[in-house]
Amino acid sequence: MADVLLKVENLTKQYAGEHKTSPIRAVADVSFEVMRGEVFSIVGESGCGKTTLGRCIARGLEASSGRVLYTPEDGAAADFLTADRASFRRLRKDIQLIFQDPYSSLNPRMTVFDIIGEPLRANFKLTRRELEERVRTIAEKTGLNPQYLRRYPHAFSGGQRQRIGIARALVTEPKLVICDEAVSALDVSIQAQIINLLKDLQEQLQMTYIFISHDLSVVEHLSDRVAVMYLGRIVELAPKGELFARPLHPYTESLLSSVPVPDPSGKRERILLEGEVPNPASPPAGCPFHPRCRFRTERCSVEAPELRETVAGRLAACHYAEELELEGVQHGVSGHTAIG
Ligand SMILES: Nc1ncnc2c1ncn2[C@@H]1O[C@H](COP(=O)(O)OP(=O)(O)O)[C@@H](O)[C@H]1O
Ligand code: SF4
Ligand SMILES: [Mg+2]
Repeated sequence: MADVLLKVENLTKQYAGEHKTSPIRAVADVSFEVMRGEVFSIVGESGCGKTTLGRCIARGLEASSGRVLYTPEDGAAADFLTADRASFRRLRKDIQLIFQDPYSSLNPRMTVFDIIGEPLRANFKLTRRELEERVRTIAEKTGLNPQYLRRYPHAFSGGQRQRIGIARALVTEPKLVICDEAVSALDVSIQAQIINLLKDLQEQLQMTYIFISHDLSVVEHLSDRVAVMYLGRIVELAPKGELFARPLHPYTESLLSSVPVPDPSGKRERILLEGEVPNPASPPAGCPFHPRCRFRTERCSVEAPELRETVAGRLAACHYAEELELEGVQHGVSGHTAIG
């Protein structure tokens, strides 16, 4: 039996629509499992529901329905969403979020030491010495000079602020870390450094990641498996290498075609998506992707494809997943992976 850390079952989050509009199903009946020690990535265009999904899992937002079964190392699986106060407090320490914005998420009036130490103070009874020791250790691990700990966040660059955010999230030694666009606000060169840091720490501290990004090239280096979301649904889920080499859903193919790869032949064509992301308050009938799909048939506009196993270990929500020969990218050649 594979060691499942988190089992998300039929998670749905509906936002009330604005005046007279239908409600928005930002996350629509999403199910997947995350294995202990894996990096599970979630990708898709802006607005497809990634942040909503991540926040519902961490109970930062209340899901409309569904379950999130979390299995602690020394215990039985429990639904994190309906856990009572005491068990929620206990489980909450195991799950942390790292956000996108390294500018607004750090309190400007607190020193870096206090920012990083705050979750420890809130959750553990430690002596001053123990607290200092743990803050110093995580600061070193995240590449922050301990001499800077007395300073305030404004003294730091974007990349260093993101290191502070990471140190704060990891200081309590969580088991599951949800990284929501954790590098998206950073320059490409700094992105690579932070991705490397996150990957190193994940191995060192034996954590499990749910890594969220709108950019497939960002997730390539560190993912084990990748789920692709469209309009609140998972449309494809596969081990990273297989997904990049041979996507099974036309939406994945179009996302991959915008991943930068060196192409000396100049033959590679970018598959442009037709049209805009539909309004999630009134998703298209049939396959939600059909208005933008270059392979659509009559059937696609009336019959919604199930997310189903098409090849062993791979899921896709397309009627024609087995027949289409879609273009991937060669693994390990995207612009973001040349990391020193
Ligand atoms: N508080 C909210 N109220 C109403 N709609 C929201 C709210 N937050 C997000 N949405 C809508 O839910 C959808 C998914 O948003 P989000 O989860 O932020 O997507 P992503 O992180 O993939 O960009 C979008 O259509 C967005 O406009
Ligand atoms: S079901 Fe039809 S519209 Fe949807 S992705 Fe497959 S081919 Fe395209
Ligand atoms: Mg988001």
